[in-house]
Amino acid sequence: MIMHEIEDMEQNFWDELYEIEPEHFGTGESEFAIKCSKMMRDSGINKVLEIGCGYGRDSLFFASQGFKVVAMDYSTKALDILNEKLSVDSASKKIEAIHCDICKGIPFGDGYFDAVYSFLLFPVGFSNSQIEFVFSEIHRVLRNNGLFLSCVRNDVEAISFFNKGYLYSRLAGFQVDSLINRTISVGKYQFNVIEFFAKKGGAKWERLNNRLM
Ligand SMILES: C[S@@+](CC[C@H](N)C(=O)[O-])C[C@H]1O[C@@H](n2cnc3c(N)ncnc32)[C@H](O)[C@@H]1O
Repeated sequence: MIMHEIEDMEQNFWDELYEIEPEHFGTGESEFAIKCSKMMRDSGINKVLEIGCGYGRDSLFFASQGFKVVAMDYSTKALDILNEKLSVDSASKKIEAIHCDICKGIPFGDGYFDAVYSFLLFPVGFSNSQIEFVFSEIHRVLRNNGLFLSCVRNDVEAISFFNKGYLYSRLAGFQVDSLINRTISVGKYQFNVIEFFAKKGGAKWERLNNRLM
């Protein structure tokens, strides 16, 4: 099977899942979003990009907290659900929902965002080289000292390559403030995850490596 056929299958998988169960990951924001919202407020963040936003439960929360949000996903069905919510939500003016496969790049200029956020987007379905590319795109669209806040799966189903060592090696160019291992509940699921909080700029590769010791 060629690459674009596999990608189409993955995209269809998400469309079908949201078609069957429009709120598959539960209603309301994640606990991680609440934590990140506090962190972003303390850091003077305004423009936030959420990648892999699904039907936008965390993006809607960020908008309700006063952030200006771009919510991105490649599932048309997920964005239909989000747009329907936006048509009746007062926070709608603060959110722009964009259909985008982030493996093809992030369609914004260098340094445009103050923060990039993702919840359970990585690493399922991404190859090593796709992750490398997407992380470089995130680095590009963040302003200096912008935040990259992400909660990634770290369990057997996710092939376990997203361990701390792997993450540090991929986060060169970011100053990593913390990596935290946790087990979380999301809708009907329990996932082992790593939450990471990183800042663009500053740290050199040697320093990141030292922190692995
Ligand atoms: C596990 S779901 C999490 C959704 C959302 N963050 C939440 O917690 O409700 C992962 C989401 O990432 C999206 N996604 C996966 N690969 C993507 C890609 N290459 N580009 C954009 N979105 C993608 C899927 O469509 C899905 O909505």
